[in-house]
Amino acid sequence: LRTAILISGRGSNMDALIEAARRPDYPAEIALVLSNRPDAPGLAKAKTAGVAAAAVDHKIYAGREEFERSLQLVLEAYRIDFICLAGFMRLFTPWFIEQWRGRMLNIHPALLPSYRGLHTHERALADGVKIHGCTVHFVVPEMDEGPIVAQAAVPVLDGDTPETLAARVLAQEHAIYPLALRLVASGVARIEGNRVLGALAAS
Ligand code: GRF
Repeated sequence: LRTAILISGRGSNMDALIEAARRPDYPAEIALVLSNRPDAPGLAKAKTAGVAAAAVDHKIYAGREEFERSLQLVLEAYRIDFICLAGFMRLFTPWFIEQWRGRMLNIHPALLPSYRGLHTHERALADGVKIHGCTVHFVVPEMDEGPIVAQAAVPVLDGDTPETLAARVLAQEHAIYPLALRLVASGVARIEGNRVLGALAAS
């Protein structure tokens, strides 16, 4: 499965996916890293890791659709058949999502359906929840919704700051994203309605 990872920044989940996909028995190949920001630190890391890396700068396009058509052309040029969003900070139009229906995963730093959107760790701390975590899910037109492939839970500890909690969650993100892609790419996990059968829970 020729997979593209879409990033906007640091790319630590990208690193975890690239590393996992090096294993000869891994069912997906990371064929491209694509960023909407030419200065994303992840792009340089991808090149160092020997993975093709490209940028499609959203700022130079008149609108979302023009930007997405350009993304789509690059994805087609690299014969990509699966997408992993990993800290990609642009919302897609329904057109783009339809092109990739059932073939695009995202990772979100919260236990969906709780804490959709941004600043998840700050909001979890403010609410005093004791369990927090991360979710890998298929992408649908609604933001941070879609069939769930994998979740991992972490405890929220007394004295946590958004930074310490984020770090605990991030370690789990790096564990479950490669597992989730493996489950989907191998066909073990599959969508049925709005659920994924063969999904994974970790804590
Ligand atoms: C991660 O916390 C991910 O869950 C969120 O954005 C962050 C990206 O981090 N969507 P990185 O670029 O993978 O290091």
